[in-house]
Parts: sequence; C-alpha cells; structure tokens
Amino acid sequence: MSEAMPRALSARYTGIAMILHWIVAILLIVNVALGLSADYIPDGYVRPVIDLHKSIGITVLGLVILRILWRLSHKPPAMPKTYAPWERFAAHAAHGALYLVILALPVSGWMHDSAWKGAATHPILLYGVIPWPRIGWIENVEPHHKEVLHSVFFAAHAYAAYALYALLALHIIGALKHQFWDREPELQRMLPGG
Ligand code: HEM
Repeated sequence: MSEAMPRALSARYTGIAMILHWIVAILLIVNVALGLSADYIPDGYVRPVIDLHKSIGITVLGLVILRILWRLSHKPPAMPKTYAPWERFAAHAAHGALYLVILALPVSGWMHDSAWKGAATHPILLYGVIPWPRIGWIENVEPHHKEVLHSVFFAAHAYAAYALYALLALHIIGALKHQFWDREPELQRMLPGG
C-alpha cells in the first residue's frame, strides 16, 4: 500500500477480498438452506435441489481456496488499537477456524457424495453443464465399506455445518459488538465506500 494512501482507505480490506467475502457468505447461507431443505421438500424436487447444493458447494471450495491465496498474498488491515489483546486473539482464532470449516464443508460433502451408491449412475454436472469428478479412491471402495463411509462422511459434513453455525454466530456478534458497542467502523472494513 502506498505511503500517499489516505488512512481511512488503508483500514479496509482490498476490493477482491470484499467481493470474495460477501459472495462466499451468501453462497454458504444459500447452501445451508438447500442442504437442510432436502428432508422437507416434495420427492420430485430433492434431486435438483441436491444437485444445485453440490454445484454451489464446489463453487465455494474454489472461491475459498482463492480467498486463502489472496489473504496470504495481501496483508489484511490492522485491527484498531482500542481492541483488547483477548479480542484480537479471539478474532484471529475465529477467522482461522472459519477458513478450516468452510474448507471442511465442501470437502466432506464431496467425500460423502463420492461414497454414494448411486454415484455411478448420477454423475456430477456442475449447474447442469460442467462435469465434475468423484473422489476415485472412495468411489472404488467395496460396496459394504462404502456404505459405512457414506454415513461417516455425512456425519462429518453435518458436524462441520454445526461448527459453521457456532462460528458464524461468534463472528457476527463480534463484528456487531465492535460496530455498535465500541463504536469502531468495523463493518466498513469489509464494505466498499468512501
Ligand atoms: C458450502 C459448502 C457446503 C455447505 C455449507 C453444506 C451444508 C450442508 C448441510 C447443512 C446439509 C444438511 C445436513 C443435515 O441434514 O444435518 C448438507 C447435506 C448434504 N450435502 Fe452439503 N454442504 C456443502 C457442500 C457440499 C458439497 C460440495 C457436496 C457434494 C459434492 C454436498 C453434498 C451434500 C449431500 C449429498 C447432502 C445430503 C442431502 C440429503 O439428502 O439430505 N455438500 N450440506
């Protein structure tokens, strides 16, 4: 960042970081809703809804890898000096855990789906267009063990979702606390504007 850059601007994430943050946030919420809805919608809608869920999940996997690469190559803005050391630690820990969980969700979903007995007759076509592979070593496990893996990976997928709910709650409560209680321009760090 150049020395001549105004101070207010230097306290913001980069435009790319903001775009990736909000797109991933929206896609995560949509995908949780689609994943949870599978048990409640009429049978005829289940397959297209789950297919869309898989497409969005794989998209999130790609975007979060991009986010991590962007984050490693672009230093985030420093936190305001008014934040207590425990708050800095909690924020960093929550951000690290969020990255892990957002990676674990699509990977565990993909593993669960690769162990599905119907995989061979129902290939993944992202958004109905782009062919996407199953994970070969999981697909090739013999049927009985594959059924066990199917359940184990589903449990991992569901627990990763529970971890996401808890971390998202902490993340949002933390951001709102800084914004409205500490009266720091917290949300502006991740929002475009003057
Ligand atoms: C952003 C990433 C993802 C999120 C947030 C997410 C979230 C969820 C949630 C909340 C559920 C419901 C769990 C429950 O019933 O307790 C679910 C189910 C499921 N997910 Fe994902 N998921 C993601 C990615 C994926 C991917 C990439 C795949 C496969 C390629 C996948 C395949 C599935 C399948 C097959 C189910 C079971 C649906 C059913 O039949 O009930 N998910 N997911």
